[in-house]
This record gives sequence, C-alpha cells and structure tokens, in this order.
Amino acid sequence: MTKRVLLIIGGGIAAYKSLFLIRVLARRGIKSTVILTNGGSEFVTALSAGGLSGEKVYTDLFDLTAEAEMGHIELSRSADLVVVAPATADLMAKAAHGIANDLATTTLSATDKRTLYVPAMNVRMWENPATQRNVTTLSDDGAFFLGPDEGEMACGEFGEGRMAEPEAIADAIETILEGDTTLDGLKGPKPLLGKKALVTAGPTREAIDPVRYLSNHSSGKQGYAIAAALTRLGADVTLISGPTALDPPACAKFVRVESARDMLAACETALPAEIFVAVAAVADWRPDGCANKKIKKGTSGIPALKLVENPDILATLSAAKSRPELVIGFAAETHDVVEFAKAKRDKKNCDWIVANDVSGDVMGGDHNAMIVVTADGEDIFPRLKKEDAARRLAEKIATHFA
Ligand code: CTP
Repeated sequence: MTKRVLLIIGGGIAAYKSLFLIRVLARRGIKSTVILTNGGSEFVTALSAGGLSGEKVYTDLFDLTAEAEMGHIELSRSADLVVVAPATADLMAKAAHGIANDLATTTLSATDKRTLYVPAMNVRMWENPATQRNVTTLSDDGAFFLGPDEGEMACGEFGEGRMAEPEAIADAIETILEGDTTLDGLKGPKPLLGKKALVTAGPTREAIDPVRYLSNHSSGKQGYAIAAALTRLGADVTLISGPTALDPPACAKFVRVESARDMLAACETALPAEIFVAVAAVADWRPDGCANKKIKKGTSGIPALKLVENPDILATLSAAKSRPELVIGFAAETHDVVEFAKAKRDKKNCDWIVANDVSGDVMGGDHNAMIVVTADGEDIFPRLKKEDAARRLAEKIATHFA
C-alpha cells in the first residue's frame, strides 16, 4: 500500500530543501500531504509545494474550504507519519507544550501518528537551553529527531543547525515506515559502530581540455545507497564521489572529486579504514595531458586522442600497507559476469567482489541484481531496488564483522 507522510513545512531558510524532499519521497513511492505554516510560506509558496506533491496544500486552521474538505483532526490522522521539516525552535516549543493555535500545531497535538522532527535553526538557538529542553520533552513523548547537521549556515555562522539533506530525511522516513522501529527507532541496531568505511561512487571525469571530458553513465545511486546503509548500521562512512546529480546521503564525510587520480588521492587521505567498498565506475583511461585551452575545430584536423592508463584505486588500496580489513570491489560486466568477476577478485586482491550485469538498465537505473562472490562461494541477491540491495550488502558486511 502506498505510504503517505504529512509534511509540515516550518518557517526557515531550509524550507526549500523540503520541496526537494517531496520529490525524493515521490521517487521512492511515498506521497506527501503538505501543511505550510505562515512562517513557511514566507520562504516557499503553496503553489510550488502543491505542484510537487500533486495535491492541495493546507495553509491555515481557519481555511474554511479545507475544514469542509478535510477537518484538521482527519488531516492529522490521514498519513502514516508526520514530518516537521524544517522544525523551527518555535514549532518545537509549541508542540512540546501542547500549544495549538494554528493548523500545524493543532495537527501536531491531534495526531495519533509518530512524528519526525528535522530541526533547522541558528546554532545559538539550537544550543539554547529552552530549545534543548523542548527537544528532550518531545523525544520523551516518543518523537523522532534527525539532525541538525553541522556546517555553514545561511546566517554565516558555523556549527550545528543545518537541516539534514533530503535524501537523509527520506532514509529516516523509510526506516520509520518500515515499522520495525521501537521508540528508539532511528537509533536502531548499530553493529558497525566503531568501524570506519570508505565508499567510492559515481563516474570519474577525465579532462580533454577545459570544456571536454571522457566519462561514463554511472549515476552514483548504488554507491550512495551503500554509504547510507552502512551509516544506518553505525559505520563512520566517508563517501568519495565523482560528479553526480545526487544529494549527498547521510554519512559522516562526503568528498566530491573529478578524476580517477583525485579519487585515489582522496581515498589515500581517508585511510585507515576497516571497510572499503569500491563502487565507482572509474575511467580506465585518461587523455595523455589536458589541453590548457579549448581545442578549436579546423586548426589541425581531427585531433587524435592518445590515452594513458589511470591508476587502479581498488588494486592500489588492496595492496596498501594500511589495507582495509574487508575490501569489496564491483565488477561491471556485460557477459560471462561471474567468471570475469572471479578473475577480477583475484587480480585486484579483494575479499569480495560484487558481480553486476550492466548489459541492462543497471547503470543509471534504480534496480540492481548483485552476485556477491567471496572465498566461500556466491551469494545471489534477487533484483532489488538499489536501496534494498545496499541494505542487504551492508547487513552481510555487519555479519562478517559480528
Ligand atoms: N576500479 C578502480 N580503479 C580503476 C578501475 C576500476 O578502483 N581505475 C574498481 C571499480 O571501482 C570496481 C572494480 O575496480 O570496484 C572493477 O571495475 P570494472 O570497471 O568492472 O573493471 P576494470 O578493472 O575497469 O576492468 P574492465 O573494464 O576491463 O572490465
């Protein structure tokens, strides 16, 4: 059955991220009913939220048409989960004290569903003892919290206060909706606590000149999902990503790189780690030198590209002095998938290799059928959504360390 969240968008600069959240949730098959607070509507419009959710956006308790269509009590019960993002200091203070003086707070006090708060505010406001007391009260009452993240804020200050990224919020929502969460929900079992994991993802770009490059169709989806799944199990994850169109997932550290050589350098900097998962589709070759000016047509005919081999990141880290304890490679193949994968496992000295048939819609698509080749044999996963395949691989990694 389609899941639905009731998304309350509070008044904060991070409200724009909640619009992305509606899209991310829709991509994952989760519908959103949106309540926009008066403060929220100073930052985003009901028109954009409604355009993205494809539904009416509710804006005020005294909206008589809304009351006729769906009363606020019904609205508060209409979803599987209530999500407050951005959760402002004001909204949390009211909710913690049972104040119900507009549609959002009335809905929060009338709901019989779980609530996830995703705070976003200035670092001083977040650290304010009153805010912290309200967070404790709401948590004690059974609410979930995600973030805030640390980083630079719109106000120019640095610290804890940034709203979590849409992909991370969607991960948290899915975790809660999976229904196996207790009141501690997001805390969940953390079998990989204390383990450092390094994940590479996406394609690399190899410059020909300042405007042209060689690359491939990798979207980064599988690597990002693996970084998120390992994080959920408690690992301290560094995700090193080539250029992708994705938001960074919830993980300890995110490093964006361009070329294979940049990716190798970032990996070496991130060592030591116990786990290395090489998901990136690293370009095997790069042009022998990058022209420092755009190559113009017709000056000396059609240019011939001379290629040189890129370093093999997986093989390099497998042979490193500080080799991670568990090294997992991916083998993108279009034929004789398992045979080639086995040969790659030996050649690159990795512990496991995940064989991937990329002749279909795997590259850039949302699904994957993995075969994990280990020293003990082959573990065949069915065709799964990339997030589910990632979860299964992360669980296998946790079992390995158990
Ligand atoms: N890999 C890497 N550095 C490279 C090339 C590949 O770290 N320069 C890693 C990939 O991240 C993946 C594994 O090696 O985990 C296998 O990648 P794949 O492209 O399937 O194999 P290649 O070594 O490139 O061999 P071929 O393209 O000939 O199949």
